[in-house]
Amino acid sequence: MDSNWFSISQEKRTAIKYISENFYPAKYMNRWRDFKEISYKLSEIVKLYSSTQITEEIEHFEFFKQYFNEDTLDLPLPESYIKWFDSMLLAFRHGNIDEIASRFHMITEGILATVGLKILNETSMELPEFNFNIKKIIEDEARHINFGFQIIMNPNYAVNRIEELYPYAEDIIKDGMKYLEPIGYSWYDLRKLMLELKEARINKLKKKIMSAN
Ligand SMILES: [Fe+2]
Repeated sequence: MDSNWFSISQEKRTAIKYISENFYPAKYMNRWRDFKEISYKLSEIVKLYSSTQITEEIEHFEFFKQYFNEDTLDLPLPESYIKWFDSMLLAFRHGNIDEIASRFHMITEGILATVGLKILNETSMELPEFNFNIKKIIEDEARHINFGFQIIMNPNYAVNRIEELYPYAEDIIKDGMKYLEPIGYSWYDLRKLMLELKEARINKLKKKIMSAN
C-alpha cells in the first residue's frame, strides 16, 4: 500500500476501493470459486485459449488483495454485478466459446474493466505504487481483449450477443455512480465512453465478418 494512502480524500479512497472490489470481489470469492478450475480446463481444450491470461488474472487478484491489506475491501457490490458474474459462470460451465468471449472478453474486459481501469488510472496519480500496477493491468487487459477476438468463431453471434447483453453492463456502472459522482464522474460521460467501447468492439468484429466473406 502507498504510504500516503490514508492522506488522500475519503471520497477518493472509497471510490478507488469500490472499483477495486469490482476487480477483486473479496466477499464473493467463494461464490465464484469455480471460475479458476473451469478456465484452466478451457485452456486445455480450446486451441488458442491461453493459460497465460488466467495466470495474469490471478496476479491481478493478488495485487488488489495485497494492496488493501490494511484497509479492507468490504463495500457491498450491487445485485447487477452479482447477477452478471453468476450468469457468466453458467456460460463458462456450458462451454460455448463464442458466448464466453462475448460475455467475458468483449463486455467484462472490453467495456466494464476498461472503464474501471481508466478511472483507477486517472484517480491514482498521487499513489505511485497503485498507479504503476494499474498501468500494468491495463496492458494485460488490452492483450486479453485481443485474445478474445481471436477465439471468436462466429463473429455474427458475438455482435448480436454484445448488443443483447450490453444493457447489463450499463446497469453495473450506473449502480456504482454513487461512489463515482463525488469524485467528478458523470453518468453522461461514462455512458458515452461505454457506447464508444461497444462500437469499437462491434466494428472490429464486423471487419472480421467482412474479411471472411
Ligand atoms: Fe483479463
